[in-house]
Amino acid sequence: MTCHLLFCVCTAAIGSLQFGYHIGVINAPYKKVQAFFKNASLERSGKAMDDCTVTNLWSFAVSIFSAGGMIGALCVGALVNKFGRCKSMILCNILALIGGALMGLSSAARSYEMVILGRLVIGVFCGLFSGLTPMYVGEMAPTALRGAFGTLHQLGVVIGILIAQILGLEVLLGSQSLWPLLLGLTVVPAILQTVMLLFCSESPRYLLINLQKEDEARRVLIRVRGHEDIEDDIREMKDEAMKVAMEKKVSIPELFRNPIYRQPIIIAILMNLSQQFSGINAVMFYSTEIFINAGVTEPIYATIGTGVVNTVFTVVSLFLVERAGRRTLQMFGLGGMAVCTLIVTIALGLPKTSAVSYVAVVAVLGFVASFEIGPGPIPWFIATELFAQGARPAAVAVGGCSNWTAAFLVGQCFPLLMNLCGPYVFIIFLVLLVFFFFFTYFRVPETKGRTFEDIASGFAKAASSGHAQPPHLEGGVTVPVSPSEKVQMV
Ligand code: GLC
Repeated sequence: MTCHLLFCVCTAAIGSLQFGYHIGVINAPYKKVQAFFKNASLERSGKAMDDCTVTNLWSFAVSIFSAGGMIGALCVGALVNKFGRCKSMILCNILALIGGALMGLSSAARSYEMVILGRLVIGVFCGLFSGLTPMYVGEMAPTALRGAFGTLHQLGVVIGILIAQILGLEVLLGSQSLWPLLLGLTVVPAILQTVMLLFCSESPRYLLINLQKEDEARRVLIRVRGHEDIEDDIREMKDEAMKVAMEKKVSIPELFRNPIYRQPIIIAILMNLSQQFSGINAVMFYSTEIFINAGVTEPIYATIGTGVVNTVFTVVSLFLVERAGRRTLQMFGLGGMAVCTLIVTIALGLPKTSAVSYVAVVAVLGFVASFEIGPGPIPWFIATELFAQGARPAAVAVGGCSNWTAAFLVGQCFPLLMNLCGPYVFIIFLVLLVFFFFFTYFRVPETKGRTFEDIASGFAKAASSGHAQPPHLEGGVTVPVSPSEKVQMV
């Protein structure tokens, strides 16, 4: 670990921080922004907007962010292949400046349309960074630390959520007059990141494999590793470059057509779906109500408490991911979430006593903690790990887009389902969590400590031998991952 490597990955993680900030920022000041929607339309047309229209417009402003995210995530592949990793991040920041300016100036311009448009632009920006940061960080990291570095993206996200929750307090920027500043503040980290990016090194894998600039790749590797002994890295990249040169360019449809890619892309998609369909955002949203039931007088502070648990357990995951491995942590997290969901569902169905409500609060915190142990951070970097350089940009785009689509669906359907099923809505997430737990158990291989090249060739071998999943390699020993495989061996 060198200072320069740390500087590069932290610079990229500012994009993750921005992503989290825009997830968290709309919760606190939403009543004030809705009042602005109403007033702005009254001033312009002389007619007051009815409450239903205001609520619908606001929901639209909230969900258009995820729609923007889907577009952004899909464009990652094309962008990084054309401009490389660092220049792409610089270009993306133009979107943050536009989006921030639109939202920040909306009140002065008396235009609620600017808030909606700003959310769309910022959504595209965040969608792009949800692919860019994990890809750049994964390519810069030494193999032994790739998981811990990969977790940095989610750490940036949760810190961003926490900052937004704190700045959104009424006494800070969540007030009647300052909310435009709260939304527009995003331009500050955008400018800071752009300046810092000028001092970051381009990904050595991109330099060597995509641009065939071996000397430059060597210089960067020596600088980020802090020693001259880089021959293993170079050899591995050259092997990969040779394979990439023999393949034709991997497009998104090719990922589904070619049997070599089919299994890893299904894993990348399902792991991203597991992150959103675990119900994390629904529970975060519903937590305020549970906290009110528990007799908490200032639910906003309890919500900040959730943000703190969120951050602490992401740090725990950062330290565990290279020891316990991705697969174990993912299963542990999904299992923990399932148990906590069951407890919340039972507690919400029981008559409300303070003991029951406190159990519900602890279960919500346990749910969030379990999420950050595995299903929060791991899906973001799994596509980067499962694919070699040729297919990686397309795979990251597909993984990211499925994540944003699922986020959009949960955002749209959850309030509706909650009206229909009440607290029993969580049973849907419980069933999904159990499904994803077994999917991980039977289909997801461990990637800890393995080179990109090794992981990709594991899938290629599995595809040619017709196995359902690649062998689970650990320390050079082939260990079957599922009982079905053990049965086959017997
Ligand atoms: C992940 C999810 C995001 C969620 C956050 C919570 O980054 O993508 O939707 O709000 O975790 O920590």
